[in-house]
Amino acid sequence: MTTVVCPGSFDPPTRGHIDIVERTARLFDRVIVCVVHNPNKHGTFPAAQRVALLRDATAHLANVEVDSYTGLLVDYCHARGARSVIKGLRGATDYTYEEPMAHMNYDISAPERVDTLFIAGDPARSYVSSSLVREVATLGGAVDHLVPEPVAVALREKFPPRGAASPTAKPKQPQ
Ligand code: PNS
Repeated sequence: MTTVVCPGSFDPPTRGHIDIVERTARLFDRVIVCVVHNPNKHGTFPAAQRVALLRDATAHLANVEVDSYTGLLVDYCHARGARSVIKGLRGATDYTYEEPMAHMNYDISAPERVDTLFIAGDPARSYVSSSLVREVATLGGAVDHLVPEPVAVALREKFPPRGAASPTAKPKQPQ
């Protein structure tokens, strides 16, 4: 039984993340999607909500579970019996960001080394990131097609779409 961990901030989860989780679930026996968070840093969604959204979005995958964690990723991997971390790569910029983390995790996990394995992300979603989804949603733009349905609902609740009725919005007067 091979257990792997898909870690991330997932703030919020995107369809790109779910694609990587689905592909990981086809390759390994057991996949733990882990929301790694810093309790002193407040994200767009609290970690517990990110976990709930990921559970919803991965409910169709029998060998996937969702958890959250604060601390060193390699400690979490050791505790859960995982020897590999899976990351999605959208391109060279992602690799540049991930490479030192992969080496560091390999280094500090000795003697039970934790390897990082990369899956090439769907090129059709290479521009989709949590940070851009957040920015567009915050400004009222449409991101429903970029995130799982429960995430779209949560984003719409938090950031009303442009043009949505707002009790404080006043119609612009003609100049
Ligand atoms: O989705 P993200 O923000 O790119 O995920 C980064 C994350 C959370 C996977 C990474 O920051 C991490 O593993 N943090 C846990 C703390 C840790 O182990 N740091 C040493 C990594 S070299």
